[in-house]
Amino acid sequence: MKKINCMILGAAALLLCCCVGAPDVNTSAYVPKSKAFTPGKILLDNNGRHVNAHGAGFLYDNGRYYMFGEHKVGGTLGNKSIVGVHCYSSEDLYNWRDEGIVLEMSRDPESPIVIGTIIERPKVIFNQKTGKYVMWFHMESRAGPRAKSTNIDDIIAEKPSYKTAKAGLAVADKVDGPYKFVGAYRLNAGKYPMGDESRMKQSREKLDKEYPNWRKMQFKPSDKNKDDIYKDASFLKYFEEGQFLRDMTLFVDDDLKAYLICASEDNATLHINELSDDYQSLTGHFARVFPLEFNEAPAVFKRDGKYFMLSSHCTGWAPNPLRVAVSDSIYGPWKPLGDRTRGFNVSESDRKVNPVLNKQYWRDAADSQTKDTFKSQSTYVIKVNGKKDAFIYVGDRWTPRDAIDGRYIFLPIEWDCDGLPVIRWYGLWDLSIFDKKQK
Ligand code: GAL
Repeated sequence: MKKINCMILGAAALLLCCCVGAPDVNTSAYVPKSKAFTPGKILLDNNGRHVNAHGAGFLYDNGRYYMFGEHKVGGTLGNKSIVGVHCYSSEDLYNWRDEGIVLEMSRDPESPIVIGTIIERPKVIFNQKTGKYVMWFHMESRAGPRAKSTNIDDIIAEKPSYKTAKAGLAVADKVDGPYKFVGAYRLNAGKYPMGDESRMKQSREKLDKEYPNWRKMQFKPSDKNKDDIYKDASFLKYFEEGQFLRDMTLFVDDDLKAYLICASEDNATLHINELSDDYQSLTGHFARVFPLEFNEAPAVFKRDGKYFMLSSHCTGWAPNPLRVAVSDSIYGPWKPLGDRTRGFNVSESDRKVNPVLNKQYWRDAADSQTKDTFKSQSTYVIKVNGKKDAFIYVGDRWTPRDAIDGRYIFLPIEWDCDGLPVIRWYGLWDLSIFDKKQK
């Protein structure tokens, strides 16, 4: 009987291997190798645990892809950083090996990255001149009377203000760390965006004369249609103290110049900042993009000399329609292309007219909704090594009530007949999609 059971188990294991590939013999847990992307499903690492790297950035280094993201704990506490930045690596983008925590939160109450500080959207680039790996991230310091307490209940009770809005910097000698925290900064204090200095100075005079309370102005998306003075006020408010950095990404161009691209001015405007040669500071050259249009979650990629930028609207953790823009220069002018996702949107009334369709159908339909970017928010676009024009959209499907359960949406970026990118929903897909002739 035992023998028969073993045979059945053996046959089942063989069948599983044939379907999903051979297991990785170097891992402690039995984790079948994956040969496809299943967006929105649990993404297992080599130890059989859900990959814990949210708001991630990716780096291709020495034949491997590295994924760096926010390690989240369970519950709403997971929206604060208790552990640090988690790194995984992969040869094929389907199977991820846990490389551990590469930037650790500190237990020292005096540390700028004491546990409970918020570290979001870490991105890493390699600097060829210095041989260093440079990580930038969005940082929000603890605030309030118990800001130095490392007691978990105090951390839970603390309301994040999101008013620090600083760019955090950490540097490592090896891709998988450890990354050493260097500092956190507001950007470009006392500096004007490229080409805007004289207009901004005039705007400042006018604001002082005609709008005595201009520093207290709060903006909303509809203000973009108002007089241009409002656009300038949104920037000038933070001129002395330095500009905000919230959602951010890094982009390294073909000439190895790198840029820190972020939601600034209370999320009203994106800033594109040139980084210094060692990637560890800003040169002071920067441009504002889409003033008062409220973009978050920027992700930039380049194809055939054209720059593309994905971003979202500002609705916190809740998803909203994707925004895509194109430009001939990293600094702009950026032309909006609208929402380039393709799928279908179903409504409650569709459900009523199609009662025969089963629950799974409606679950799939819900996943393919374009009105909320397939229930995700952009975090990065991966350039696939060795394949022409092959890029992958990576988004977060946030679950703020139980942050650790957040899912990852990997989808191919395809090229439409107009030469512009489109993103379609595929519940199951693999890299061979890029070998098919594109329009
Ligand atoms: C989102 C942003 C996230 C996080 C969140 C906090 O809009 O994209 O990275 O900052 O807000 O509410």
